[in-house]
Amino acid sequence: MKMIVLVTGATSGFGLAMVNHFGSNGHHVIAIGRRVERLNDMKNKLGSKLLLLKLDVRDGSEVQKVLRSLSHPFSEIDLIINNAGLALGMGPANKAQLSDWDTMVDTNIKGVLNCTSAVLPGMVERNRGHIINLGSVAGEFPYPGGNVYGATKAFVHQFSLNLRADLLGTALRVTCIEPGMCGGTGFSEVRFKGDVKAAEAIYAGVDPLTAQDIAETVYWVATRPGHVNINVVSMMPVQQAFSPFAIHRNK
Ligand SMILES: NC(=O)c1ccc[n+]([C@@H]2O[C@H](COP(=O)([O-])OP(=O)(O)OC[C@H]3O[C@@H](n4cnc5c(N)ncnc54)[C@H](OP(=O)(O)O)[C@@H]3O)[C@@H](O)[C@H]2O)c1
Repeated sequence: MKMIVLVTGATSGFGLAMVNHFGSNGHHVIAIGRRVERLNDMKNKLGSKLLLLKLDVRDGSEVQKVLRSLSHPFSEIDLIINNAGLALGMGPANKAQLSDWDTMVDTNIKGVLNCTSAVLPGMVERNRGHIINLGSVAGEFPYPGGNVYGATKAFVHQFSLNLRADLLGTALRVTCIEPGMCGGTGFSEVRFKGDVKAAEAIYAGVDPLTAQDIAETVYWVATRPGHVNINVVSMMPVQQAFSPFAIHRNK
């Protein structure tokens, strides 16, 4: 079945790979981001099957207004992928800037809520739809410097499960995708505020996941038979695993 797919954070990394993957497989795609001019090449490739929407997911009233007034053939969204998100900083909590914490909460939590609440009533009315949220292994496993970023992704995990609880009895599906280290996206450059060296150092000597790995996983989740709900996908590169418990020893 051909779907109407909405991807937030479509201008870079995972989102861009998803636009390409779903679009190349014949689905209609609504691509949301602030820098939508980055998708001009994709527009040439996918033509009228791609709708570009310049939107900041933090702006709840604008998101509601735009997503509730979409016209044919983009109005009846089958799949929303809440992918827009970011980490800012990797220092300890006592050295973090409150404005960075606010931006992560507003984007990773409130952005997901703004977009979900705009499309969910229509999906329930049609008794058809799938919500796929981008969490992270940082929402399950703590690490130094992950403070508010990890906490926002823990929210995404639990919100996804709670949505499923509310939607029992409908045909709607909900999934949380929780990747570990993934390279080749804008994520680390954003986190380190343009410090390319610091961003590259994160991936030194590691063969990380790629945006294409994530796009293919999301595609697989979205194309399971209608009676199958994949609740959570936790995925990492083979070269990443879990920390032992940290112990601070007295000298
Ligand atoms: N890369 C990783 O290792 C990794 C691992 C686990 C989870 N994740 C999660 O996966 C998602 C995608 O990450 P990525 O690696 O693809 O990062 P990325 O390349 O930096 O892409 C992030 C996307 O989010 C969009 N975005 C950010 N703030 C926005 C806002 N206020 N309104 C609309 N769009 C906004 C950006 O678009 P504009 O700037 O154009 O608006 C961009 O398209 C994020 O939620 C991230 O937390 C990433």
